[in-house]
Amino acid sequence: MNDTILMSAKPFVKWVGGKTQLLEDIKRSLPSDLLQNEDILYVEPFVGGGAVLFWILQQFPNIKKAVINDINPHLITTYKVIKYQPDKLIAQLETIQNEYIPLDEVGRKNYYLKKRDIYNLSSLSDVEVAALFIFLNRTCFNGLYRVNSKGKFNVPHGRYANPKICDKDTILADSKILQKVEILCGDFSETIIYATPNALFYFDPPYKPLSKTSSFNSYAKEEFDDSEQIRLRDFCHEISVCKAHFILSNSDVKGNDKNNNFFDDIYKAYTIKRVMATRMVNANSSKRGKLSELMISNITEYNK
Ligand SMILES: C[S@@+](CC[C@H](N)C(=O)[O-])C[C@H]1O[C@@H](n2cnc3c(N)ncnc32)[C@H](O)[C@@H]1O
Repeated sequence: MNDTILMSAKPFVKWVGGKTQLLEDIKRSLPSDLLQNEDILYVEPFVGGGAVLFWILQQFPNIKKAVINDINPHLITTYKVIKYQPDKLIAQLETIQNEYIPLDEVGRKNYYLKKRDIYNLSSLSDVEVAALFIFLNRTCFNGLYRVNSKGKFNVPHGRYANPKICDKDTILADSKILQKVEILCGDFSETIIYATPNALFYFDPPYKPLSKTSSFNSYAKEEFDDSEQIRLRDFCHEISVCKAHFILSNSDVKGNDKNNNFFDDIYKAYTIKRVMATRMVNANSSKRGKLSELMISNITEYNK
């Protein structure tokens, strides 16, 4: 695979909770001998925008196989279309870009709302779903993905002077790198079948909200509440019994309320590190700032 093309692989959508700025911390925590191993299997059960996926596959080209999963069906359809039909996707995105960019503000908003209605229909081809998914992500308010109780995407139009709707180089680079990635759509628990001693799981679940008002985790119609966080912890126990390795990130609720020991308690069997991160997407710009985040692992050399 051509290295220059490979190096431009990166998330094809903006995604709340994108991990670009935690990459250095993740890198420091990775077990180097494990990652030199040709047989290593990288598993990401909450892949979202894939910032960690694309980065890790570039950093460690010896990783021959990876598995990604997400509960969001349109996100996963888009990964599959990028893997198998990048040229058809690029053609559709170019058409949309040529129609949208020349419009004035009112025209763009009407165009966006029309495409959003079409996206919420159920009779689209996979390439249409992927093209609309990327278009809406690039032109909606703050790149949010939010659905109502019926699962309909309802984010309003955003205001960007010149949004890049068709990023051909990224789609082609991602398509190349995805050739060694198995793409699944479902609940994280379905990845249990990959829990073997040569597997490295990276979990980036919807974060536990720091406060009731800061809550943003409606990526899907299902809520990810405290009982879901505990179900994920139980899953970490299960894969640890199978000798699989894991790293998990989450919000540091203790940073906001020193008496809140939720994660310290439920993950007391593992190593917990606190790292600084800047929240990438917060609808309220005054709330974008440095916060500590948790990185939790069952890897024994994780403390160094
Ligand atoms: C914080 S985001 C991941 C961010 C990602 N690492 C990135 O870099 O953009 C969490 C993801 O978990 C997905 N999700 C929510 N509940 C899930 C579940 N039960 N099983 C699998 N995925 C789920 C959401 O659709 C969302 O894409």
